[in-house]
Amino acid sequence: MSGQRANEVLALSAEDVASFKFGINFRKNPNDGKCYLIYKEEAGLKACRNQCKHQGGVFITDMEDLNRQTVKCTKHNWKLNVSTMRYSNPPDSFSQEELEVELLDGGLRLLELVPQDPWLEEQRDPQPLEPGEATVTYLSHACMALSLGGVRVVFDPWLTGPAFARGWWLLHQPPHDAWDLLCSADFIYISHMHSDHLSYPTLKVLAERRPDIPIYVGDTSRPVFWYLQHSNVKLTNIKVVPFGIWQNVNQHLRFMILMDGVHPALDTCLLLDYKGHIIMNTVDCTRPNSGRLPLRPDLLMTDFAGGASGFPMTFCSGKYTEAWKEDFIRTERRKLLHYKVQLVKTLQPRVYCPFAGYFTEAHPSDTYIKNINIKNKAEDLNAEINKMAPNVTTWTPKPGATLDLALALDPQHSDAVRAPPPGTPVYKDRWDFQRYDQELRSAVGSQVFKHLAWVQQYYTWAGFRNYNLVVRVIETDEDFAPLADGWDYLVDFLDLTFPLSRPIREHNYLEIRNRVGVMRYVVLNGLLWDSLYIGFQNRISRDPDVYHHRFWDHFQVDLPLTPPDWEGFLRSLPDPPDDSHSCRVG
Ligand code: FES
Repeated sequence: MSGQRANEVLALSAEDVASFKFGINFRKNPNDGKCYLIYKEEAGLKACRNQCKHQGGVFITDMEDLNRQTVKCTKHNWKLNVSTMRYSNPPDSFSQEELEVELLDGGLRLLELVPQDPWLEEQRDPQPLEPGEATVTYLSHACMALSLGGVRVVFDPWLTGPAFARGWWLLHQPPHDAWDLLCSADFIYISHMHSDHLSYPTLKVLAERRPDIPIYVGDTSRPVFWYLQHSNVKLTNIKVVPFGIWQNVNQHLRFMILMDGVHPALDTCLLLDYKGHIIMNTVDCTRPNSGRLPLRPDLLMTDFAGGASGFPMTFCSGKYTEAWKEDFIRTERRKLLHYKVQLVKTLQPRVYCPFAGYFTEAHPSDTYIKNINIKNKAEDLNAEINKMAPNVTTWTPKPGATLDLALALDPQHSDAVRAPPPGTPVYKDRWDFQRYDQELRSAVGSQVFKHLAWVQQYYTWAGFRNYNLVVRVIETDEDFAPLADGWDYLVDFLDLTFPLSRPIREHNYLEIRNRVGVMRYVVLNGLLWDSLYIGFQNRISRDPDVYHHRFWDHFQVDLPLTPPDWEGFLRSLPDPPDDSHSCRVG
């Protein structure tokens, strides 16, 4: 549907090309300041942008690489092997998009093949908006209710219950009419399968009132609703749409779902076009649409907070002292803030709203995480944007507050936000921990865990192997102390064996202490390990101190779509149960 064009991004003279050294060469385009990496080898030249796939950081020479093949990102130390165009840190992870190298009379041109931006298809001129015609109401976390010419759209509804097992809880109290706004929506967009966006406790309530409500998701390789059937939530109208194609709602309203460049199997973002006005919600994408986004959208919404990962809060031993963590978290927070400011400066939206970061580690067991996992404040980000991009109107949303887009786009109006009624609470002050704790605890006494063979059954079902990593998994109490009657076992993922001690060969090693209730609930239901890792439900140490992308990606994104057959497992076992726990590591 869309054409492709080749953009010349850099041209170098024959003299410059002749000066290339073997290995990595750094070059900058003097016209736009953009930087490039050119790799010279006997076979010829390879080139790419000097731009890290993670969050756009700049690469410098990796002094540790004596072969001159690797560069290191100045932001978070990812490493790219330019000779293969593969990232070596994280290992076995991403590849870098290459540029076309065209040699001409000894000189060189670097060309980037760019597919046409899909939102330019049948582009529409903005039409005037009446006050009240296009409004955006903030409900909670990443959940907004939009009214566009009378059509109600809701994003990522999380209105009740925890996310990531019971690690995340709503910071804000959703407004009193949040359920009515949700249940009367014409359609819902769910950006991805993480439980702060795809909230089964919320969808359960919704399904009781509107089982056939249309819910749109992107066509990610891991289906967003992969767990729907097993969840017993009866939603009947899930619509999976292809990326980058306008979906027409009516003559004035259409939307398009776009992929994330770093996590295409998982994350998506959304463009809405109402009467030629573009509303963009990048949600949690690390590099939404690989960084190619419409300029000057009318409203841009992005995440801002950080702290949405177990790293480094749940890491222990080695360099992970409290002081190191504090320093790292502070630095990362600043970098994220800076990155969002740069994004806003580049895209120049008319209105900007940071959201999708309003969670808290409210559970009493997670006080440690709550105290150290300090997040960015939306007010601070907006203050920075007001300085750096004064033309952009910023909005720090409060639950129940409504932005009127027509007023926000009108320079004559200084206040386009209708505040919630006086007395509307902003923050939650109580959460129903007991109900969800009970559900997780229900897994602990399962018959499955009375048999040593569950370990082999589970990891065989998981299907991860041929990777030189040994993991020790220890079941613990709430304070991560090993349980006397809990399992403690090793998995050697090179050949998927379960040794009683670490192999003598050189290997990567991870030790993961998991809270028993959450771990067993995850195992029984075939859930992804994001409940454990992103939900702060474990403590991790590693030797060497390397992020094993393949392992975590498999257990957090790629586990089988149907849970293990535990009934069949129990039927296949001899009586009585083997509860000797003989795989305890000595
Ligand atoms: S490692 Fe490069 S931007 Fe994060």
